[in-house]
Amino acid sequence: MSNTIAIVDSRNGKQADLPIVSGALGDPAIDIAKLNKELGLFTYDPGFVSTCSTKSAITFIDGDQGVLLYRGYPIDQLAQHSSFLEVAYLLIHGDLPGPAQKTEFEHHVTHHTMIHEGLKLFMNGFHYNAHPMAMMVGIAGSLAAFYHDSLDPEDPQHRMITAIRLIAKMPTLAAACYKHSVGQPYVYPKNNLDYCSRFLDMMFGVPAEPYEVNPIAAKALDLLFILHADHEQNASTSTVRLVGSTGANPIACIAAGIAALWGPAHGGANEAVLKMLNEIGDKSNVARAVERAKDKNDNFRLMGFGHRVYKNFDPRAKIIREMCHKVLNELGIHDPLLDVAMALEEVALKDDYFVERKLYPNVDFYSGIIYKALKIPVEMFTVMFAIARTAGWIAHWLEQNAAGDVKIGRPRQIYVGPKSRDYVPLAQR
Ligand code: CMC
Repeated sequence: MSNTIAIVDSRNGKQADLPIVSGALGDPAIDIAKLNKELGLFTYDPGFVSTCSTKSAITFIDGDQGVLLYRGYPIDQLAQHSSFLEVAYLLIHGDLPGPAQKTEFEHHVTHHTMIHEGLKLFMNGFHYNAHPMAMMVGIAGSLAAFYHDSLDPEDPQHRMITAIRLIAKMPTLAAACYKHSVGQPYVYPKNNLDYCSRFLDMMFGVPAEPYEVNPIAAKALDLLFILHADHEQNASTSTVRLVGSTGANPIACIAAGIAALWGPAHGGANEAVLKMLNEIGDKSNVARAVERAKDKNDNFRLMGFGHRVYKNFDPRAKIIREMCHKVLNELGIHDPLLDVAMALEEVALKDDYFVERKLYPNVDFYSGIIYKALKIPVEMFTVMFAIARTAGWIAHWLEQNAAGDVKIGRPRQIYVGPKSRDYVPLAQR
């Protein structure tokens, strides 16, 4: 079989033979790098619907089959057997750690959880009711000002220490944002606790009384973090890589990723889902919500439904759906929002509009209900996503920089503005 494809410009008969690039799994791609040189043409693909921006060995998604693999391991196996920190190691290093590597990695992460005291002053500058994601974009980016001695993208040691620092410090920063918003003192990270228990302690502990972390909550959080840890070239990861392509330091890249994650079409969806379920309020209003989502004159969309890549059930949603019932049962919570969510899912999954467009619940349809059960405030939901996705972002940034031949990302455009025209003096306009 030929490994090139001929593109013929029917206007003038000119032809370019373009290589076909195949990966280990998934559809092959046409390498169009020399298309413009040979035919004087660009490609036009708003939203990158048919465009691969890089080769990557980290995560594979088959959207038609509902498959998600981290370094080859199916997400359901990792969800069942692994832990978030082990998954972070896997994403970063390419293989599961052996016992000594696991202990060493956990030790490093655990011993970089504290933040510079100067960051507290920075935090105090935020208004008390600032959105935690607004604080996270600023505060995460500000880490570059505190660790400027180890930000050289070309130095392997700098790269690894920054990766560890980011994974370690993100929960500390996130909890500090929450504490700032409720006017409570920041709680220092306790290194005798595991990653998720430590975060819950920093979120909900107060100096006035001891706080006991509920192991069910810590386990649920760990599972949510595994499911959110990476998702190949999504908008925020692509942002991290685009910023990384300029040679910017890793912390600046991750701050850009946090900003991209904030949007409701991406990580902000988990917050938007809960707001939507609250607005729907009762099962009896579900049919009306579905009608609104189908109405092209109404901007309302069913948040937590649809995905650019999954055209079958999101495998993460399947796991979360099951987990949601389990966690609520274990914590002894009956949340009427779960009833609304299930009714909404049932109606939408039978509706022709959603069936034809292959719109299924995505990972964020249920995650908000679990976060709510863990008493995480709604405004913190996207921050939770950011903590988990930091592992994926940094793995992609490391992969990009370890390759050593980073080419600046610089898309082209189809210009639709005025043609060249002469400047008109003010008095004549
Ligand atoms: N509710 C109603 N209609 C929808 C929805 C929805 N949630 N999602 C897509 N559609 C319709 C859309 O109107 C379009 O219809 P038509 O063909 O008649 O014009 C069709 O389905 C295709 O939609 P699209 O916007 O072209 O698809 P996309 O691949 O560009 O967008 C998406 C994917 C996730 C942004 C979109 O489905 C959406 O906005 N969903 C709600 C937000 C959400 O849950 N986002 C979280 C994604 S998963 C977590 C993450 O990765 O961050």
